[in-house]
Amino acid sequence: MTTLVTGAAGFIGFHVSNALLSRGEQVIGIDNLNDYYSVALKQDRIAELNTNHGDAFDFIKVDFADNAALSAALEGKSFDRIVHLGAQAGVRYSIENPHAYVHSNLVGHLNMLELARARGSAHMVYASSSSVYGGNKTLPFRVEDRVDHPLSLYAATKKADELISETYSHLYRLPLTGLRFFTVYGPWGRPDMAMWIFTKAILEGGEIGVFGEGNMRRDFTYVDDIVAGIVAALDNPPPDDGAEKAGGSHGPHRLYNIGNNRSEELMRMIALIEQACGREAKKTLLPMQAGDVRDTYADISAISGDLGFEPKTSIDRGIPKFVEWYKAYHNL
Ligand SMILES: NC(=O)c1ccc[n+]([C@@H]2O[C@H](COP(=O)([O-])OP(=O)(O)OC[C@H]3O[C@@H](n4cnc5c(N)ncnc54)[C@H](O)[C@@H]3O)[C@@H](O)[C@H]2O)c1
Repeated sequence: MTTLVTGAAGFIGFHVSNALLSRGEQVIGIDNLNDYYSVALKQDRIAELNTNHGDAFDFIKVDFADNAALSAALEGKSFDRIVHLGAQAGVRYSIENPHAYVHSNLVGHLNMLELARARGSAHMVYASSSSVYGGNKTLPFRVEDRVDHPLSLYAATKKADELISETYSHLYRLPLTGLRFFTVYGPWGRPDMAMWIFTKAILEGGEIGVFGEGNMRRDFTYVDDIVAGIVAALDNPPPDDGAEKAGGSHGPHRLYNIGNNRSEELMRMIALIEQACGREAKKTLLPMQAGDVRDTYADISAISGDLGFEPKTSIDRGIPKFVEWYKAYHNL
């Protein structure tokens, strides 16, 4: 079994590749290694996969939003299914550089759907985001809720990906599963995300800026739980039986939330990082940032009911694991 994983040098793509390879499968990983954050970290993730799995992991550097380059890079390579995790991530950066989001998340997503169609892929699982829920007030967020009011371009591109995918499942009966991830954290995480930024500042004795005056809540999901959900979804393509699927499609297209099913105060997350670092943070309270959502909380009943998904890692256990990895990676 060979799976094409996009964004394989990214945080979640690295972990998914590792999990599939550890099951004895083959992975073709693609990534353009862009410099949105440390390229060295992306290269280290690829090096780790190469070291641990040898020839079973085949890495190709390519921009999947460049259709000609994508076709050329994959010529002569065969794969059975796709996990499409590559994207321009980050809510705040979408205000600074909107074109990067249209390029990777819209053009790139279309190219991946066309690839899946041309290759007759058995299933494509793709990443959406909790940010599609925008300012919805009813918590927890359910896949049945309306999501027509995104608060950022990032969120709008992810919602658009779900809509474009729906047309592909309808027109071409392409089996697709869209996963709305809720704030993922853990070893090999992302330097642009709050948990990394806070950990770095606390260990360096610097100050942290706490947005939303600390009055924000997030459903923090440990990366191993996200990977378990992605792999369970990948192994269970939606049947083309005309029945209504999670998210409302009558085609072979499901939408699921993957979260920890708990909404945690930002201040509790900071307290756990402080505990793991053995130091207190100097905190400056700041207003909400443009594009940010105040609270997130995932209703996971759809994926639990269909696939038996159950998150296993609370932030009390997950945050110390992240901090431990952070220190080891930086030789601290
Ligand atoms: N981490 C989270 O909390 C979170 C939450 C919700 C949704 N998501 C989504 O999950 C997916 C994975 O996120 P992540 O946290 O691993 O992010 P990441 O930025 O670490 O990984 C994305 C990878 O995609 C690559 N990439 C971007 N554009 C590309 C292009 N045009 N061609 C080839 N490669 C390209 C990047 O170089 C990067 O390595 C993304 O779709 C993201 O939007 C993540």
